[in-house]
Amino acid sequence: MGDKKYWEEIYYKNLKESEKDFLKDVWMVKYKNIICNVKNKKALDLGCGLGQDSIWLVQNGFDVTSCDFSKKALKKFKKIYPKAKIMNIDITNDLPFEENLLGLVNANLSLHYFDFKKTIEIFDEIYNILEKGGLFIGRMNSDKNNYINENYVELEKNFYYDKLNDQHKRLFNKEQFDLLTKKWKIIILKEDETIRKGRKKYTWEFILQK
Ligand SMILES: C[S@@+](CC[C@H](N)C(=O)[O-])C[C@H]1O[C@@H](n2cnc3c(N)ncnc32)[C@H](O)[C@@H]1O
Repeated sequence: MGDKKYWEEIYYKNLKESEKDFLKDVWMVKYKNIICNVKNKKALDLGCGLGQDSIWLVQNGFDVTSCDFSKKALKKFKKIYPKAKIMNIDITNDLPFEENLLGLVNANLSLHYFDFKKTIEIFDEIYNILEKGGLFIGRMNSDKNNYINENYVELEKNFYYDKLNDQHKRLFNKEQFDLLTKKWKIIILKEDETIRKGRKKYTWEFILQK
């Protein structure tokens, strides 16, 4: 799989200043009341990238461990925000955290790269490491996005291999999202849109509770 290589050697390496529009798009700001109500402030930002969400969470009282498998992203983030607590992990492996430990897990646009079975496993892992009542928040690609083209090979429903970038991508429809969230209490679930690198992106935005 070339996914790690893509994030390490293409995406973060070639990202221009003008393409970092997403650093200002801290999606969870509008849910501040719900998020800041969490008592246990131990939090994870999974697939943190350049860390704009992590910074917001720290500024709002959370003790955040910012995780990504791209060393390049973590290095750049640490330069922007030296007090960041970073961790180089691959989300597809077991998450190295105790069960029932955390109050909050954020995964913003970082869980739509895996087949459905693996995605379910990751949701289950996150469920296990959250304490009862803890929140899992994030955004994932919706199937309203129309960027699939002849370079994409469909491996399973809504899961693609992008031949051009040697990378996997997936989209979710409502039924698939419902399957993923079966054992969670849904606090927020809505289809929304955002801008990334100047391009419109449709997402499922969610706040789930264990
Ligand atoms: C679209 S970026 C989102 C980054 C950040 N959350 C944000 O909102 O800007 C996806 C991130 O997920 C990370 N990622 C993808 N697959 C991963 C994996 N298997 N393990 C850990 N991080 C992963 C990438 O390195 C990248 O930083």
